[in-house]
Amino acid sequence: MHDEELLKEFEFFKVKEGRFRISLTTTCNARCWFCHNEGSIPPVKIDGKNGLQHKTHTCSTQEYITLVETLIDLGISRLYFTGGEPLISPKLDPILESIPLHEKNEFKVIIATNGILLKKKLDSLSNKHIDKLKISLHAFSDESMWNIERTRSIDVVKASIVQAKEIFPEIEINTLLMPENQHEIMDIIQFARDLQIDIEILELVWTNYNRPTYTEKRLSTYDLAEELIKQGGREHINKPGIGVNLKMIEFENCSVRLMDNSLGSSYVETCSACPLKSSCVEGFWSIRVDPEGFAQPCLLRSDLRIDLKPLIHDPESLKKFIPLWIGAFMKGIDISELDILERVRNK
Ligand SMILES: C[S@@+](CC[C@H](N)C(=O)[O-])C[C@H]1O[C@@H](n2cnc3c(N)ncnc32)[C@H](O)[C@@H]1O
Ligand code: SF4
Repeated sequence: MHDEELLKEFEFFKVKEGRFRISLTTTCNARCWFCHNEGSIPPVKIDGKNGLQHKTHTCSTQEYITLVETLIDLGISRLYFTGGEPLISPKLDPILESIPLHEKNEFKVIIATNGILLKKKLDSLSNKHIDKLKISLHAFSDESMWNIERTRSIDVVKASIVQAKEIFPEIEINTLLMPENQHEIMDIIQFARDLQIDIEILELVWTNYNRPTYTEKRLSTYDLAEELIKQGGREHINKPGIGVNLKMIEFENCSVRLMDNSLGSSYVETCSACPLKSSCVEGFWSIRVDPEGFAQPCLLRSDLRIDLKPLIHDPESLKKFIPLWIGAFMKGIDISELDILERVRNK
């Protein structure tokens, strides 16, 4: 296959706001029972005496910085910093310091956080070029927060959201609907609406780690959407062309975006032959980079991880490799067949 065809796929990925989710750590100050940990072993599992271990944090600050520079050069429009909990990583500040002032239509820098440390970090974050903060708020009381995240700091998280709204250009609340917070979900949504903050309600994404309880724990957002429409919200469906389709309920000053499994997701050619497709909720939308410097093209396929670290030391090759690798995945081509690495090095 010609490079041009693969590059065309990569252009589609960019135009549709395909993103990079960069994990700065796999460790966390919470223990959410459902956590997908962006494809790594979830913190809650590592607490058990089962021999499971966190990823080694071998990607250095400078390596992250080179990667981020390359992604910006390539025109990736969404750079997420995630974890584990990114606010516990000492690498976050220097990486953010390396990101230049930019317009949000050039690219967006987004931090996903559970909010527990946000209050303490607000000062240092406020002078970085961050476009958006996505703050998880899965509970409205300490009791529910304990049942979900094994920590009790709901007042701190709520207060940080209020403060963050005054500092950052954009804030979004993220809430996973589950049996443990079903009784509080309307309080959480009302909290967002009162503050005029957009909120995304997620449905549980299947992983091999939450598999034992998935069927019992996954709740549909359908009834919630109906309730919000009764309250005056206007519904429309957003099909971004990449990742999950969303139900949007618009109110005057904010929107509630609901993931709804029944609306489906977008898949690419590799997905048609994927053995995990029947369990895959997200579809293709995001490249995940872990703290070892490996990238994987979707949450469930750690078998497709590739090591970016050698290429990070040769940024010109990295810049040629990423578009061809993403294009190959989208076209359903095994990268070993393509010998992409050889090709980029010989160009
Ligand atoms: C892995 S967390 C990392 C960032 C940060 N620690 C946090 O919790 O926001 C990123 C996002 O993934 C969501 N998430 C984690 N596991 C999930 C799952 N199995 N299904 C749906 N969303 C999930 C979290 O709620 C959070 O909004
Ligand atoms: S706070 Fe985020 S990273 Fe930590 S356990 Fe919960 S979902 Fe996972």
